[in-house]
Amino acid sequence: MKTNDQPEPTLFVIFGGAGDLAWRKLMPSLFDLHRDGRMPKNFAIIAVDRAASGDAQMRKRFLDGVNRFSPRGKAKSIDWKHFAGHVTYQQGDFKDPATYSNLAKHCAELDKEWKVKAGHIFHMATPPVMFGVIPKMLADAGLNQDRKGARIVVEKPIGHDLDSARELNRVLTDSFHESQIFRIDHYLGKETVQNILAFRFANPLFEPIWNRRYVDYVTITVAEEVGVGHRGGYYDHAGALRDMMQNHLMQLLCLIAMEPMVSFKADEIRNKKVDVLHAIRPISRAMVGQCAVRGQYGRGTLDGKKMCGYRQEDDVSPHSKTETFAALKLFVDNWRWQGVPFYLRTGKCLARQVSEVTIQFRTVPHQSFPSETIRDWHPSRIVLSIQPEEGIVLEFQAKYPGPKMLLRPVEMRFNYQDSFAIPSPDAYETLLWDVMKHDQTLFMRADQVEAAWQLLMPVLDVWAKSNPRNFPNYPAGSWGPKAADELLAGQGHAWRPPDENPSQGRHL
Ligand code: BG6
Repeated sequence: MKTNDQPEPTLFVIFGGAGDLAWRKLMPSLFDLHRDGRMPKNFAIIAVDRAASGDAQMRKRFLDGVNRFSPRGKAKSIDWKHFAGHVTYQQGDFKDPATYSNLAKHCAELDKEWKVKAGHIFHMATPPVMFGVIPKMLADAGLNQDRKGARIVVEKPIGHDLDSARELNRVLTDSFHESQIFRIDHYLGKETVQNILAFRFANPLFEPIWNRRYVDYVTITVAEEVGVGHRGGYYDHAGALRDMMQNHLMQLLCLIAMEPMVSFKADEIRNKKVDVLHAIRPISRAMVGQCAVRGQYGRGTLDGKKMCGYRQEDDVSPHSKTETFAALKLFVDNWRWQGVPFYLRTGKCLARQVSEVTIQFRTVPHQSFPSETIRDWHPSRIVLSIQPEEGIVLEFQAKYPGPKMLLRPVEMRFNYQDSFAIPSPDAYETLLWDVMKHDQTLFMRADQVEAAWQLLMPVLDVWAKSNPRNFPNYPAGSWGPKAADELLAGQGHAWRPPDENPSQGRHL
């Protein structure tokens, strides 16, 4: 199948081509774009890494990655054969100028063969220490020169704190113009995350009530069942605030709180998002204790299975003070949101995998129903389910059938599978396609990354300086430390009970 929306001829270079990200995400996504007919007519993929390997061996590994991880299932051999013909492996050290002169030679050969000046995408799927090296080496080899065609892709984490993020942005912008830099936060590629803009701004119904007058508070939860797995070495130096809050949860907050965009231009949307970060009330060091909660999982049980504690995980210090759970209470100081708390929480080894945003509306201004009718009353709520459920639920009150006026909460549901009957693409498929199309809408701009770090620095500083004496403070398989519930409870607020489904199993 072909679409007339195909990108220009492209050479896609993956630094870290023998690594996990290329195997699990990049190659399956590029292959899925190919089987959808969305790769350019002329394209080549070069995986670059230090490992001694050859084309055939690497292609075999990539096929294995596609068959295991593609949401579209296994590759048909004819499709794979066609795709694999575009994929080569180049052994090379990322610090060796010869790696880059070989690439430059390859680029020139392809331009000649395709009789066109092709676009060049350099994807840094490497450990972060290489992010500071590769851009300069590319520039030294002249591979940054084509302002329109050359692009560099960098994966989160963008820095470890504000200073290192600024430094990385400086290194990137020394060699590439901001319009050539694509900083990936894969949450932005998820269908349900993009759908937040569609829901808010393509429907006149919701926007008028999306403000302090009607909204009581907002919760954002990104809960994972999994622990740190084989990533202990990285995670023990990162923690939940750096690994998830600074990027994924901040992105969700920006999309929920931003003002309507004037156009769908990348910078217009990114400006509106940065405005939110600038409007968030700074957390002073003195306030950290009241606005932020941290936790670390200990031994526990999940679905009847015994789980080890974080300190027992591979490559994690047995005395680790790293948080595997973080919750924040934030305020967005602008006309729309003044006084409305935004509660954010994320953690590993929690009771269930669920990512969702809830918009909790205020209760009715005057209660005219007799008290005996409203036993189960709770104010209306919109739940935007990001994953694994993909959809939106509107919870409201309805009359229970019968002679008496009795109210009970019910739901109206939209879910992706029922409505569209096609699987959502993996976020990387969307993002890599956008890189090829030179569309930066779903990528983080330098100022946005820095604004998010700036906000979190007081919390990181205070946490680094004070010992969390009560760690581990939640058992694996629970919903995190009690203090995270107390963050809301003082105001009569609560996280949405995850298994709550008002239309099932409740009788008046
Ligand atoms: C990554 C984090 O950015 O996102 C991981 O580094 C986390 O720790 C992952 O597990 C979650 O992504 P997803 O798409 O599975 O929700």
